[in-house]
Amino acid sequence: EGAEGEAEKLYVGETLGTGDGPKVDIALVALEGTTIVARGGPNALAVIAIAEDGGFLTVPNIYMDKIAVGPGLPDGIVDLDNEPADNLAALADAKGVPVSDLVVCMLDRPRHGKMIAKIREAGARIRLILDGDVIGVIATSQPEAGVDIFLGIGGAPQGVLAAAALRGVGGQMQGRLVFRNNDQRTEPPRLGIENFKQKYAAHEMASGNVTFAATGITYSAMLEGVRHVAGGAITHSMVLRSMTGTFRFIKGHHDFNRFP
Ligand code: FBP
Repeated sequence: EGAEGEAEKLYVGETLGTGDGPKVDIALVALEGTTIVARGGPNALAVIAIAEDGGFLTVPNIYMDKIAVGPGLPDGIVDLDNEPADNLAALADAKGVPVSDLVVCMLDRPRHGKMIAKIREAGARIRLILDGDVIGVIATSQPEAGVDIFLGIGGAPQGVLAAAALRGVGGQMQGRLVFRNNDQRTEPPRLGIENFKQKYAAHEMASGNVTFAATGITYSAMLEGVRHVAGGAITHSMVLRSMTGTFRFIKGHHDFNRFP
């Protein structure tokens, strides 16, 4: 939820737990999409991922430039440093479809104006989302979500979480840290990141055995939101494991009388 000293709880690098049992890394965004919830819009999630000790790239709360595609494609089919038109042509070729059939998901932000123009010029379709790019990246791995590629700049913590999810479903992702402003240039050295220009693959952001879980807070293409019923609530979650590739959907019925 922020750097040490900025966030009272869940700061970057905080040690949690009793100290007994296995030591693991935890990455989480307790509410991915605060603005979404305030507007009653789609795609808000509660997200947590667990890796072996040291398995997650520790990132400050800055931006990350991201590119992601789903599983079953040749390694390195797209690259953060390629022009959108080249990535789209390679992806269309690998999927055996015309570029005009491809759907690019990205955050609707002024900073993406030039990229949006290039994607439109290349002939692909665009799905602009207002917030919530973790689900935008995961959507590339689910055919029913209708997203072929995720592009653009969003939060760095969300990038690590999305990488953890893709490790579970086998997609490909690259990310590179981007500063929101000059003040943030002091943050990565504090966390041991020396090369700000480094391009990280999914397995460099989330390495080893990784478990990822997300619960829908508001509706998305993959998860229902929380539904309040008399005395309780119904939730829908997804749980992914990199070791087995298992993808589980869990419907939870919660009785507030027993677990207030
Ligand atoms: P909030 O939870 O802070 O509302 O935002 C979520 C989010 O949309 C992420 O999904 C995304 O990575 C990031 O914010 C983008 O940041 P910005 O709104 O500054 O473009």
